[in-house]
Amino acid sequence: MVKISPSILTCDFLELKGVLKELEEAGVELLHIDVMDGAFVPNISIGFPIIDSIAKHTDLPLDVHLMIERPQLYIDRFAKHAERITIHCESDCDVRETLKQIRDNGVKAAVSVKPKTPVSEIYPYLDLVDMVLIMSVEPGFGGQSYIHSATDKIAELRAECNKRGLFDMDIQVDGGINFETAPIAAHAGANILVAGSAICNADDMKKAVAEIRKLAE
Ligand code: DX5
Ligand code: ZN
Repeated sequence: MVKISPSILTCDFLELKGVLKELEEAGVELLHIDVMDGAFVPNISIGFPIIDSIAKHTDLPLDVHLMIERPQLYIDRFAKHAERITIHCESDCDVRETLKQIRDNGVKAAVSVKPKTPVSEIYPYLDLVDMVLIMSVEPGFGGQSYIHSATDKIAELRAECNKRGLFDMDIQVDGGINFETAPIAAHAGANILVAGSAICNADDMKKAVAEIRKLAE
């Protein structure tokens, strides 16, 4: 079964309470939170005060995507509210140690690759993660188009996980997921779909979630 994790990056933050309620009613499984520091990516987004408020107003599990340098400095604070935390293998940290740090906090650990990074770069960490996030846009901004080379990376990773007996590995895809690309990524083996603008900028979020789910299954 496919899980949907909407990214709130492009929503109106003063309307967030209503957005969370609508997403809950739409039956999404996770809430994707994009944290950007202006150093790992050329954008600055959501930080601790907003995440604290989100946690206060929703029971949705928080899927925290860290696009920051030195994530190890902040894991313990993000872990207070996160159900899973994703770090990038390209970020300035000891990836193994940081993934262990996430799990030591009782939180699911995930590692991500940017579009130009070969997926094999994260194979050394497969024993330490619950999820791999394949970026299908350059991280930094919502509303970009899906980069189709991500599809082969998802398929390659799913085959590698199966070969290693890691049948429960979550494979998440993030960036440019919409009615057209959701089925492509899901068919390749992604089971968690992040969608930002396709859901949060839709006139009817509930309808958009249902449609993405139907097309992907
Ligand atoms: C990009 C973020 C994504 C993005 C998704 O750096 O990681 O989560 O906001 O937005 P859409 O679905 O609009 O590409
Ligand atoms: Zn993201």
